[in-house]
Amino acid sequence: MKEKLFGIRNDFKNLIKDANTIKEIDDLRVKYLGKKGEITAILKGMRDISPEERPAMGSLANEVREEIENLIENKKSEVNKILLDKKLLNERIDVTLKTDNLILGHRHPLKKTLEDLEDLFTHMGFTVYDGPEIETVENNFDLLNAPKDHPSRDMSDTFYFDKNTILRSQTSPVQIRAMKEYGAPIRMVCSGRVFRSDEVDATHSPMFHQLEGLVVDENISLANLIETLNYFVKTFFGEDMKTRFRPHYFPFTEPSLEVDTTCPNCGGKGCSSCSGTGWSMELLGGGMVHPNVLRNCGIDPEKYSGFAFGMGIDRIAMVRYQIKDIRMMFDNNKKFLEQF
Ligand code: DAH
Repeated sequence: MKEKLFGIRNDFKNLIKDANTIKEIDDLRVKYLGKKGEITAILKGMRDISPEERPAMGSLANEVREEIENLIENKKSEVNKILLDKKLLNERIDVTLKTDNLILGHRHPLKKTLEDLEDLFTHMGFTVYDGPEIETVENNFDLLNAPKDHPSRDMSDTFYFDKNTILRSQTSPVQIRAMKEYGAPIRMVCSGRVFRSDEVDATHSPMFHQLEGLVVDENISLANLIETLNYFVKTFFGEDMKTRFRPHYFPFTEPSLEVDTTCPNCGGKGCSSCSGTGWSMELLGGGMVHPNVLRNCGIDPEKYSGFAFGMGIDRIAMVRYQIKDIRMMFDNNKKFLEQF
């Protein structure tokens, strides 16, 4: 019996060496340790052995069985490791490999402009505020000192939900919200979508984007506004850009002004896109916050003064990227967007 066990063990050792798949290993396990396996048969045959020999034979048989079990487990992990290595090798991704057809997304020119503008003003110490697109008539017009008969209030200009609620026609109501909530001193910008019932053409869209700025503190003057806007134009568009300030009217500022910049197309020489003037018109508006507006927000105009400004982000993006038609920015035409 001893010889038989050693014979089985040797045979098994030879066979397991050549078993290279999990299936082959399992077949060997069945052949030796299965119900009808060779080792099982020997263990079953113990009862025919004389009681004197039985303990020694029993423990030898168990030893051999354990050895076989261990060899099977070891071989299995060896084969699994080889399989895993093979799989990893096959699935390896070479990140240094060149590819020509990688399509990377990027920001929309409008979003990029908006974020760059907010960045610039944040660096100048402005805080970014946010306001709702659905606004009250009170915040959008009344508290901004708009006369009751101001044409922009008209149903044909502004989208009304009911007589008190509209889609905001400008970002200026966010000034009101910020002043009412935080009082003075304050230095804020906000940006977002605004809505007007405009005819659609190359420069008009019923939905467009504005950036609004407001500074209220003691001793704020028109000089601060002009310097802030000059700094903005030169930093954003380049040192060569000149500014021109023209008197204007807004209900919420007094005095009010509009800002033109050097025509980016001809650099000021005069061309068809600036009608020969050399100026890009009405890039932004601004002025000194009207005392009524300060008062409406609970700020004492005797103590505080402020300036405010507003600009069309779509216009700025159009100037920046020389886009001729505002509609292109909302069409989501891939060919157009991929240029930026
Ligand atoms: N809200 C104005 C508009 O939509 C833009 C504007 C002008 C905002 C002057 C201001 C400002 O804050 O001071 O045309």
